[in-house]
Amino acid sequence: MPRAEDVVFPRRERVEDRRKELGHRKLLDEFFDHSTLLAVSRLVNRGQFDSLDHPISLGKEGGVFRATKGEEYRAVKVYRIGNTTFRRLPEYALEELRRVTSLRNFGGLISAWTRREHTILGLLTDAGVRVPRPYGHFRNVLVMEYIGDADGAAPRLRDAPIADPASLYADFVQQVGRMIRGAKLVHGDLSPYNTLYFEDRLVLIDVAQAIGADHSVARRLIERDIANFAKYFARLGLTVDADELLAEVGGDTVGPPRAEA
Ligand SMILES: Nc1ncnc2c1ncn2[C@@H]1O[C@H](COP(=O)(O)OP(=O)(O)OP(=O)(O)O)[C@@H](O)[C@H]1O
Ligand SMILES: [Mg+2]
Repeated sequence: MPRAEDVVFPRRERVEDRRKELGHRKLLDEFFDHSTLLAVSRLVNRGQFDSLDHPISLGKEGGVFRATKGEEYRAVKVYRIGNTTFRRLPEYALEELRRVTSLRNFGGLISAWTRREHTILGLLTDAGVRVPRPYGHFRNVLVMEYIGDADGAAPRLRDAPIADPASLYADFVQQVGRMIRGAKLVHGDLSPYNTLYFEDRLVLIDVAQAIGADHSVARRLIERDIANFAKYFARLGLTVDADELLAEVGGDTVGPPRAEA
């Protein structure tokens, strides 16, 4: 059985560049505290992946790493155990968390949040929405499909050159339409930052805060999500009307069911 320390950025046979090694060491200390290392090793023992290769993205709230399992890559999201993750959460998300754990129980909160992201990725996958397929989770660590290829992870939509804005628009309408009408969810933090661009199509990510389309805040959230994208499409040179885009994705159906007259 491999030691968790060896699974996280395993030492290469060749002597590594010293600076790189120090950088990795700092990362190790910041992200991989004892409990996170145990979670990583648990997932390795379950066959979720063989090793972590390198970070794809490092943020205040967590990091996403490329991992290898046999011949394929996987993406591993590690939520940082610290209070920054929950400081930023909107009230409706805290309300969801409060249902499953005490807000004072930090480990419990992060586990619940990680599980939530895993569950929502599963619901979206089942509804045919293009998202990373979820593979497993343990505590603050989530394993999902890697979006990208051997040359690197897919860029965020924000950073990707778009050859055909009109077909991207149609793809957006289809994906978000399936999310609302099929999965009956709204994303709640949808933007060109939380969307990847891969093989000329978009992939929605970062879904932990998604909420049922009939929730009282859902309408406000979908309007904001759509406004973000209307601006983005306008920058690409399309003539876009936010209300029309909202209607196209089924936004009119979002919100609590109206009381019978
Ligand atoms: N499945 C994936 N495959 C490839 N890259 C991914 C995947 N998931 C996330 N990433 C990369 O990691 C970044 C952060 O992921 P995500 O948005 O889910 O986390 P986050 O905690 O919200 O971070 P941030 O605050 O930077 O948005 C993404 O912008 C993307 O570059
Ligand atoms: Mg994000």
